[in-house]
Amino acid sequence: MLHLKRQLPYRPTERMNVVSYPIRDIVMEAKREEAKGKKMIYLNIGDPPQYGFEPFKVIADRVKSALDENWKGYAPSEGDEEFRKTVAKIEKCRPEDVFAVAGLTEGIDFFFHSFIGFGEKVLLPNPVYPLYLSKAKQFEGESVFYRHDEEGQIDVANLAKKIEGAKAMVIINPNNPLGSVYSEKNLSEVVKLCAEYDVPIFYDGSYDQLILEGKQVDFRKVARDKIPFMYGSSLSKDFSYTGARLGWVTFHGDKWSEVKNAFFLLCNQRLSVNWEYQKAAAAAMVHPSFPAYIADMKAKLIERRDTFVRMARKLPLSFPVPKGAFYAFMKIETSKWRKDVQFVRAALKEGGVFVPGSGFGRQEDGVYFRSTFLPEPHIIEEAFAKIKRIL
Ligand SMILES: Cc1ncc(COP(=O)(O)O)c(C=O)c1O
Repeated sequence: MLHLKRQLPYRPTERMNVVSYPIRDIVMEAKREEAKGKKMIYLNIGDPPQYGFEPFKVIADRVKSALDENWKGYAPSEGDEEFRKTVAKIEKCRPEDVFAVAGLTEGIDFFFHSFIGFGEKVLLPNPVYPLYLSKAKQFEGESVFYRHDEEGQIDVANLAKKIEGAKAMVIINPNNPLGSVYSEKNLSEVVKLCAEYDVPIFYDGSYDQLILEGKQVDFRKVARDKIPFMYGSSLSKDFSYTGARLGWVTFHGDKWSEVKNAFFLLCNQRLSVNWEYQKAAAAAMVHPSFPAYIADMKAKLIERRDTFVRMARKLPLSFPVPKGAFYAFMKIETSKWRKDVQFVRAALKEGGVFVPGSGFGRQEDGVYFRSTFLPEPHIIEEAFAKIKRIL
């Protein structure tokens, strides 16, 4: 008889040591508090429908009609033709430069997988949306961080010291978690520097339409013909349809042909994203009622942001006032808290769910946490009453 030496419990691979997503990791602890009967206010995640923002209705209508059409098999790996044509028109590129992805999350994964090799330097903002940190580690790139100035603009002098030898630079605009919106002047200076050092840009435009103050700058216009770049966005934030899991990545400039082939292989490997949301996105992106939808969303966000800022200013907290997206990155200005994780745990016990600043790669110069201001004003007020007790 064969006696196998069994190992229990089974162990995950070493690779898993670098996989993390602090925005959701905190939820397990919050659910434990909730199970004890505590009312929790979740300010950890940027999920508009959770806070009463209805997705752009054209999408669901078109999904329903597409279900009655004959879209039953796999879609083309790189995306539905109609979808790619529509995105190409908006982005002023060719349909063959457009790739459909399962949320920009998959686009970010493909960017690292196809372009950032072992030990290669990728310039990331600090603080940064956590997925970039995790992906850089998984693909064994070297993360190098650039800073922002007091106005929340990219600190070009700081960037200039770090740019040499970088394989690519990531820009998130409007920025998560800072809420910065970069000016045309700032973006032009960054593009000029990148062109000088031949560093292409991965531009994350997830919050493109959600500019609450200032002018919307079209990065594609600023960068076109100056530096090759990739541009990504999705239905998640601008259309409030996080559950659709549909995004797109476009390639601009003439140096990408081999990377595009690599993207194509990655798309092939996962077969396709679903037809219906691609059909719906193609209808939604060019729909005449979209500007009114965005105007309404922005008006709500401004009201909520203003409530958030008013409440936060009563407490020992400092932060750049968010000008875009729907987050604020808060620094705790009291010596009571020395570790962000301890603060976040204490906030959990009070019923407020936040993400520690270290999850965004920021901890060396203070204690930080990120909050969304998506909920209605009275919920934001309730949340601040909770953290007031521990600050
Ligand atoms: C800056 C940024 N990029 C990308 C994503 C991924 O979004 P999705 O996969 O839903 O398109 C998010 C989600 O919060 C984000 O904040």
